[in-house]
Amino acid sequence: MNIRQIQEARELYGIDEWGAGYFGINDEGHVVCHPTGEEHLSISLPDAIQKLREKNIATPLILRFPQILESQLERMHLSFRQAINEFNFKGRHMGVFPFKVNQRREFIDSVVSCGQKLDYGLEVGSKTEFIAALSYPLTENSLLICNGFKDHDFINMAFIAKAMGRKVIIVVEGPDELEMVLQTAKNMRHLPAVGLRIRLYSRGAGKWEKSSGDYSKFGLTTNEALNCLQMLQDANLMSSLQMLHFHIGSQITEIKRFKNAIKEASRVYAKVVKMGFTPQFLNIGGGVGVDYDGSKTSFQSSANYTLQEFANDAVYVLGDVCTNEGVPHPTIVTESGRVIAAYHSVVITDIREVQGEEMFPSESAIPEYSDGEQHKGIKEMKYVLDNINRKNYVEFYHDAIEYQEELFTLFNLGFLNLQDRAYGEELFRRICRRALYFSSFQRHQLEEFDDLQKIMVSKYLANFSMFQSIPDAWAIDQLFPVMPLARHDEKPSHKGTIVDITCDSDGCLDTFVDRADVKSALDLHVPNGLPYYVGFFLVGAYQESLANEHNLFGAIHEAEIHIDSDGQWDFTKITEGDPVEELLVSRNYDMGEIFGSYEQQLNRAVETESVTRAEADSFLKSLTKAVKQVPYLNS
Ligand SMILES: Cc1ncc(COP(=O)(O)O)c(C=O)c1O
Repeated sequence: MNIRQIQEARELYGIDEWGAGYFGINDEGHVVCHPTGEEHLSISLPDAIQKLREKNIATPLILRFPQILESQLERMHLSFRQAINEFNFKGRHMGVFPFKVNQRREFIDSVVSCGQKLDYGLEVGSKTEFIAALSYPLTENSLLICNGFKDHDFINMAFIAKAMGRKVIIVVEGPDELEMVLQTAKNMRHLPAVGLRIRLYSRGAGKWEKSSGDYSKFGLTTNEALNCLQMLQDANLMSSLQMLHFHIGSQITEIKRFKNAIKEASRVYAKVVKMGFTPQFLNIGGGVGVDYDGSKTSFQSSANYTLQEFANDAVYVLGDVCTNEGVPHPTIVTESGRVIAAYHSVVITDIREVQGEEMFPSESAIPEYSDGEQHKGIKEMKYVLDNINRKNYVEFYHDAIEYQEELFTLFNLGFLNLQDRAYGEELFRRICRRALYFSSFQRHQLEEFDDLQKIMVSKYLANFSMFQSIPDAWAIDQLFPVMPLARHDEKPSHKGTIVDITCDSDGCLDTFVDRADVKSALDLHVPNGLPYYVGFFLVGAYQESLANEHNLFGAIHEAEIHIDSDGQWDFTKITEGDPVEELLVSRNYDMGEIFGSYEQQLNRAVETESVTRAEADSFLKSLTKAVKQVPYLNS
C-alpha cells in the first residue's frame, strides 16, 4: 500500500472534486463507486469488471448505478424542500425527468421506480418519447409534460393520456399549436391542462446559450403569449392554463443567469395571474450544470454553484416576486436531466496497445541495417542525437528537422533504401524526445515544443468507439473525466491520448479535465501484461441518446449494480450489447441473403476443390458465430 502515491493520484485526476462523493480511490489503488454517496459503502470497479468477465461479459461496457440516480433525485428534491422551509415558501417542488437525456429503457425504468416516492414525472419532446412515457406506471400526482413541436396526432395522444387518468400538460410552443388543442377539445371529453413556453429575454450561459434569449427557436414572444391567453379566454378555457414554462439551455455555468431568468419568469407568472388566470405550476426547465472538471467555476465544463444554491435562489427569488405582487406561490417544477443522470454511469474499456514510448526511456541501440557508407544526413543526425543538451536543444532540434527533410527528399529521389529511411526516422524520434525533455525545464515553453509535445505523446488504443460511447466529446468537445481504474499506488510514467478503434481520425481524445486548465495528455501507466482498464465518468446524460453507430459499432454491454446497507453488492441486470446481425438488420441488410451468399461462395470453393466440405462447414460456423457477437475487439 502506497498511501502517499494514492493521495497524489486523487489530486492528479481530481476524482474527489468531480466525483461528488460517488467516486474515489481506495487504499488498494482501485477506483471505487459509492452508489449511495456514503463512503463506507463502496464497490471496486476492477472487481466488478472481473466478476463480469467470469460471466463472459467483456469490455467495453457500461456500469450503471441506479442508486446514484435515486440519490440525485433525492438531492434535488431535498435541496428544494430545505429552501422552501428556509424561505417560508408556500408552494411545493415537483420534478420531471426529460426523456431525451437518456432514452435507454433500462435507464428510464430506474428513473420511474426510483422517482415514485417523490411523485417524479416525465417530460417528452416527441411522439416516440410520449408513446414510451405513457406506458410507465407513474404515480397519480406525477406530471407528464409534452414539450417540443406538435402536430394533431401528438395533441390527440395527449388527450388520450388525459382520458387514461394522466396528469398531462401540453406546453404549447406557438399560437397554432394552441389552435390545434382548442380544435381537438371540441371533439374530446377529456381536456388536458395547457402550458405556455415563454421566451425570456434572459439568456443562459455556456454552449447552449442559444436555447434562450430574444432570438431563440423556442417559446412564445410576449405578443404570442398574450395572443394565446386571449384565445383561452375566448374559448372559455382560462382554467386550463396550468403551467408557465421556460428553459434557458443546458449546462448553465453561472448561477446569476438562472437568477435573472427566474426573476423575469416570476414577473411573467405574476402578471398572468393578475389577468385572472390560475396557473398552478411554474416550470423552470432544466439546465443545472454538472461540474465535469471539478473546478466549481463558470468554465464550460463546470458550474459555479451547488444544487442547494440553485434551489435557494429559485425559491427565494420566486417567493419574493410573488409576495411583492400579491399573488399565490406556485408549485415549482424542475425539468433537470443532466445533473440527475450524468453521475450514474461509467463507460469502461480496455487498452489494446500503446503507440509511442516514454518521454526519456532507457534507449537500446538502433539497429543499423545499411552495410554501405552511411549518408551524410544520417551521420549529421547521429551527431545531433549524441550532442544535444539543455543549452543547444533549440538549435539542434531545428537542424534535425532540416536533416530529416533532406532524407525524405533523397528517399523520394531513390537515393536511400527503406533501411536507411527507418534508421533516420528513429534518430529523429529520439532527438525530438530529448529536445522535449530539455524544453520541459523552461519556465515558458516555446510554442513549437508545445505542439511537439502533443504529437509525441503516447497513443493508447482503447477498445471502444467515441462516437458510440462519448459522442459529445467528438461533436462539441465536451470534457468528461477519464482515468485508469487501478494501479493508483504506482506513479504513472506516461502521458497519453486515447484513440478509439473506429477507422476515423476524429476518434481521438486529446483534451482532458484539469481543475486549473485543460490537459492535452492524460497520465497513464505502461500496461504490464495484465488488462489495463480506463473509465470514462459522468457519461449518463445525453451520451446514450446521441450515440451513433459509426463503423457499425453499436451499443456496448451494460450491467446494473446494487449495493446493500451491509456493503454486499451484486449485478441486478445485465444487458448484452448490440450483436453484429442487429446492426446490419438496422441498416436494411437481410441476414438470410447474407448467409445465402456465403453458402454459395463456399460451395463454389468446394466445387473447385480450393476448400474441403469440412472446412467450408467450419467457416460457415465461424461466420455464424461472428454475427451473434458484438463488433468490439475480443480479448
Ligand atoms: C425543454 C427542456 N427541458 C429540460 C431539458 C434538460 O436540460 P438539462 O439536461 O440541462 O437539465 C432540456 C434540454 O436542453 C430541454 O430542452
